[in-house]
Amino acid sequence: MSVERAHDLFTSTFGVAPLLVASAPGRVNLIGEHTDYNGGEVLPIAIEQRTWVAMDAAPGGPSQAVSEAPDTAAGRFDLTTAVRTGEWWDYVQGTLLHLAGDPAAAAPVRVAVVSDLPQGAGLSSSAALEVATARAAAHVWGEDEAQGHLRLAQAAHRAETEFVGVSCGMMDQAASALARRGHALRLWCDTGKIDHVSFERAVLVIDTATPRALRQSAFNERRESCARALAAIQLDHPELQDLAHATLDAVDDAPMTPEVRRRARHVVQETRRVAQLVDAVRTGRSVGQLLAASHASLRDDYECSTPELDWVVEFAMGTRGIDGARLTGAGWGGCAIAVGTPDGLRDLAASIIPAFTHAWKRAPRTWLTSASHGAMVDWVRGS
Ligand code: GLA
Repeated sequence: MSVERAHDLFTSTFGVAPLLVASAPGRVNLIGEHTDYNGGEVLPIAIEQRTWVAMDAAPGGPSQAVSEAPDTAAGRFDLTTAVRTGEWWDYVQGTLLHLAGDPAAAAPVRVAVVSDLPQGAGLSSSAALEVATARAAAHVWGEDEAQGHLRLAQAAHRAETEFVGVSCGMMDQAASALARRGHALRLWCDTGKIDHVSFERAVLVIDTATPRALRQSAFNERRESCARALAAIQLDHPELQDLAHATLDAVDDAPMTPEVRRRARHVVQETRRVAQLVDAVRTGRSVGQLLAASHASLRDDYECSTPELDWVVEFAMGTRGIDGARLTGAGWGGCAIAVGTPDGLRDLAASIIPAFTHAWKRAPRTWLTSASHGAMVDWVRGS
């Protein structure tokens, strides 16, 4: 069991048992892509793969972090002088720093990390590490449980954007912190309001195993385009605060290049699809058309798909029992999701591996998952 692995890694590294083991999941987004940093809606689920963090205070310091992952060095740092190192424990340092508020008042900690989340596949392994760290540290530092998981998500998000320096929206950390088993998390990114939407369907995650070298620069470029579109619309609509809430007419009337307009049209229409998908799920209807519309918009207007992702979606849609499929997460490589009947998903998982390998000369990975639970404390010493 992973809880025990985290516990044992801590014990063998530091010579004492941890105070607790906490964990947090990765995520896939059902719909609402590239809407979070535009004040729109998203609808992720937590997946079953998680990261576990064993932790206790380290009296006298410094803070230390070890990971079970191969080829990872052990980190030592002091929160009062924390600087980015480019190492994996920046996620840990950054989260501790932002959760602590006043680093001088926060006890140094020892941390041992175990994960079954694939890294670099676009399943938010970094958000899972941040949120699991925040969950564990909140316990070690004796924080009031009632402060809630939103604070954990916010500290994790600030770690990613302000400490590690990756520009992203709030979705990944919110899903990892706040999701519930058997539910999708509907998040309004302008206000932080959330709703747990019952979602019992299975989801097949297909990783195209594509190098994602361009992802961050392309992501930053899209953010700039969205900011430009918003500024152009605000010339006539100064009251508009978020691109996601613009009307299509306003997008079409504002002065911007055809390319920027396509990006903006995606954002405006994609955010509306969240409410439509929630409605379809609640009334037991097919979600296939909405997923197809989302994928087409990401491919043609937002231009963040890849030939491999398009191929996976088309292959999935040609499989009996599959209701819908689309790319999930940022795009430019990474994963697609498919939903359908249990038999359909099983058949797709079996058939897509040889077909993809034949077509693209590398093996994809697949995971059958369903909506899992967000951050939690798994084990506490003496209880
Ligand atoms: C990445 C970011 C998220 C979100 C998605 C696209 O996963 O980390 O915040 O913007 O891309 O929906």
